[in-house]
Amino acid sequence: MLSHYSALNIESLIEKIDQYGFCIMDHFISDSITLTLAGELSTLNDSARMHAAGTGRDFGTINKRLRGDSIYWLNENVASLAQQTYFTQMEALRLLLNQHFYLGLFALESHLAIYPTGTEYKKHLDQFETKNDKQQPQRQISCILYLNQDWIDNDGGHLRLYLNQKNNAVIDPSIFKNLQLEDIQLDISPIGGRLVIFLSDTFYHAVLPASRDRMSLTGWFLTR
Ligand code: OGA
Ligand code: MN
Repeated sequence: MLSHYSALNIESLIEKIDQYGFCIMDHFISDSITLTLAGELSTLNDSARMHAAGTGRDFGTINKRLRGDSIYWLNENVASLAQQTYFTQMEALRLLLNQHFYLGLFALESHLAIYPTGTEYKKHLDQFETKNDKQQPQRQISCILYLNQDWIDNDGGHLRLYLNQKNNAVIDPSIFKNLQLEDIQLDISPIGGRLVIFLSDTFYHAVLPASRDRMSLTGWFLTR
């Protein structure tokens, strides 16, 4: 199961997260598994089993202008074969992150998501800024796996990562030689099989509108 994973350079993944707080990994999942997951998502969507995603503290507020995707929470206990592959890969990633960063990541929550043509998710943070006193699990690491076949840059739908806010300690501005720190945005194309990992409490980000439906499987590693 670790085959795709170990084919990638794990050291460089750890090194990049350590250095920058995010990293982009292509071919995290094979083309055939990506295709199967996309098919499962389409089936759920066609049978109206996805529901409008919310925003706010409990994600209970539906505002299509702020966030236009529909989602389906995955349950590991009833996972399809392709979903099991995803969970296995993510478990390896969880152990690796814990081993290197002592993060105490103990669980993963994940949902499939579809952004219909033209919809977006405005700039936001995956972790709420106010301290939660109930000591509920917090999202620590965001991991977004893209499921679109043959995505081209012109299709849009980029994940825009804002590298300048809350994370001055993480990003070394000298790596972006010609840019001012306030200008730094990274637009990442949602190419099938690609996994983007970033620190949930650090990076503001947005999903830009696309000219076709955009599919993903988003996971968050939680800490207590
Ligand atoms: C999210 C999110 C980004 C993406 O689901 O919170 O920001 O690229 N997704 O799909
Ligand atoms: Mn997000």
